[in-house]
Amino acid sequence: MNVNRTVLTLDEFTIQSLRQFPHATGELSTLLRDIGLAAKRVNVEVNKAGLVDILGDAGTMNVQGEEVKKLDLFANNQFMGVLQRGISCAGIASEELDDFVAFDDEMSKNSKYVCLFDPLDGSGNIDVNVSIGTIFGIYRRKSPRGTLAAKEDFLQRGLEQVAAGYIVYGSSTMFVYATRRGVNGFTLDPSVGEFCLSHPNIKIPDSGNFYSVNHGNFFQYEDGVKEYIARCQNKTPENGGPYTQRYIGSMVADVHRNLIKGGIFMYPLTKDKPQGKLRLLYECNPFAFIVEVAGGKATDGHQRILEIVPTELHQRSAFFVGSKNMMAELEECLTGGKQVAG
Ligand code: AHG
Ligand code: MN
Ligand code: MN
Repeated sequence: MNVNRTVLTLDEFTIQSLRQFPHATGELSTLLRDIGLAAKRVNVEVNKAGLVDILGDAGTMNVQGEEVKKLDLFANNQFMGVLQRGISCAGIASEELDDFVAFDDEMSKNSKYVCLFDPLDGSGNIDVNVSIGTIFGIYRRKSPRGTLAAKEDFLQRGLEQVAAGYIVYGSSTMFVYATRRGVNGFTLDPSVGEFCLSHPNIKIPDSGNFYSVNHGNFFQYEDGVKEYIARCQNKTPENGGPYTQRYIGSMVADVHRNLIKGGIFMYPLTKDKPQGKLRLLYECNPFAFIVEVAGGKATDGHQRILEIVPTELHQRSAFFVGSKNMMAELEECLTGGKQVAG
């Protein structure tokens, strides 16, 4: 077999990059490895979804009153399980859990990090064989080591993230994560079961041709958003166009495309969802962090996402994220020319 040993695996890459920090304890690389392991297990189930009786609704509602699919629960348990058994995570918060969970074994209580995640994003797409994903954000805990993780560990501004990432279960399965030093993407090589570095040092193009928004809600958006969408539809080659609208209903897949090719993703406030739909802590913050590190921008239309001080674990937000020139034009429409802070 022709094994290409110039390709780094996820574990090799994180260990090598974190070793460059003299005070690194290796806990963050262990945590990322644990998340990678859970992702591989979820990937196996996602790929079998059409074959086994895991497909379909679990028949319960999640804490936000939305229907939970069986794979959401499976994914939630996988991520929670590896993080609890690992040596780096003091507690977790998840879309699928009402409250945060502080792990009460000695190893966990002495751990440095907490992790927030959306175990399966785009779960409405499971039954129709469309890409879905997992999103996570990692924070250094505020509470003292040796004690149980506390709510303050989870209610931190997105700016405090140590790392954030996502997994997209798509035509191939990719693990993308960011630290302040850069964004790197790894593609699962199913023949050896390893995530291999395939997209080193990802930068989002300053401009792009894709805009992602749910057009079905158009008449519920505020005027500035409508104006920006109209501008997207009116782009010509003279002003950077034409643009293409792409929206699959799995934010992980939509933002991943825009990160690689250049574009903007929007989930504005609507009349039906006046607080927004997406969850700040485990949907917006991780993507805001990743896209900013890659050179893009993320706001709620008024404020930089990463600067919002959260008050609730499951709080929602409007979300605009993408290429910086496209975000600047959106801001022009939203604020009538004034720049959004951040
Ligand atoms: P989840 O499956 O975790 O509940 O998230 C679905 C989210 C997001 O991924 C997607 O962009 C958005 O909901 C789609 O919402 P609409 O169907 O309202 O456009
Ligand atoms: Mn989601
Ligand atoms: Mn979800």
